[in-house]
Amino acid sequence: MNDIDISDSENVYTAGRAGHIRSFVLRQGRVSNAQQRYYTEMMARIGIPYANAPLDFDAVFGRSAPRILEIGFGMGETSATIAEANPHQDYIGVEVHTPGVGSLCKLIAEKSLANLRIVQHDAVEVLRDMIPEGCLDGVHIFFPDPWPKARHHKRRLIQSPLVATLARRLKPGGYLHCATDWENYAEQMLAVLADEPSLQNTASGFAPRPDYRPLTKFEQRGLRLGHGVWDVIFRRR
Ligand SMILES: C[S@@+](CC[C@H](N)C(=O)[O-])C[C@H]1O[C@@H](n2cnc3c(N)ncnc32)[C@H](O)[C@@H]1O
Repeated sequence: MNDIDISDSENVYTAGRAGHIRSFVLRQGRVSNAQQRYYTEMMARIGIPYANAPLDFDAVFGRSAPRILEIGFGMGETSATIAEANPHQDYIGVEVHTPGVGSLCKLIAEKSLANLRIVQHDAVEVLRDMIPEGCLDGVHIFFPDPWPKARHHKRRLIQSPLVATLARRLKPGGYLHCATDWENYAEQMLAVLADEPSLQNTASGFAPRPDYRPLTKFEQRGLRLGHGVWDVIFRRR
């Protein structure tokens, strides 16, 4: 593949028009030389281009294993840590932010991870068009953009229509795990997931952080400053 200039906010992996309110704003981020190099080299190998066609997970990973989808992996540290600790599970990370994709590409190469693939595209469209119903064992949505201003709440990811779509993509018994450090968004998550009839809370209210979700540096700092973090974990009935 020809070199892709990843300092462009739109490229072959991200191109496309939304017919819905987007939960992100594509911003120009500083792209390091390493991110550029790993992006070009690794996305050709482990990148899954967006397509309006169902994804064949077994073909992608060359095996049949539990499948976890992560929406908005940011710089990918948590995704790489989880995939490394769980080699018996397969992970697909979805992210739009190009420097973050470059950063996770670097981690995948450095850790030689064979169980993590990347789709660089709007997760709303990936879910709608690429993820078949009843095929996921889990979904991770960690610290989604909080959109704190009331007039921006419509951009928040965790809203009823998306949660209904997510629930249908889960296998019976599959889990949806959201985490946030915004109390008001945490309450919204709890309310919206509780309202989805096909989902059941695994806890009474907020859940304790499971061991598989590592504490990020940002989170550790927040906790030291007395800020809260809330995990919400539901299972499909
Ligand atoms: C606040 S960051 C959190 C990143 C990471 N999960 C963490 O815990 O550090 C939220 C991320 O979600 C991504 N994002 C937001 N909406 C998205 C969407 N619809 N599809 C894919 N990625 C999205 C953003 O680009 C951003 O990197």
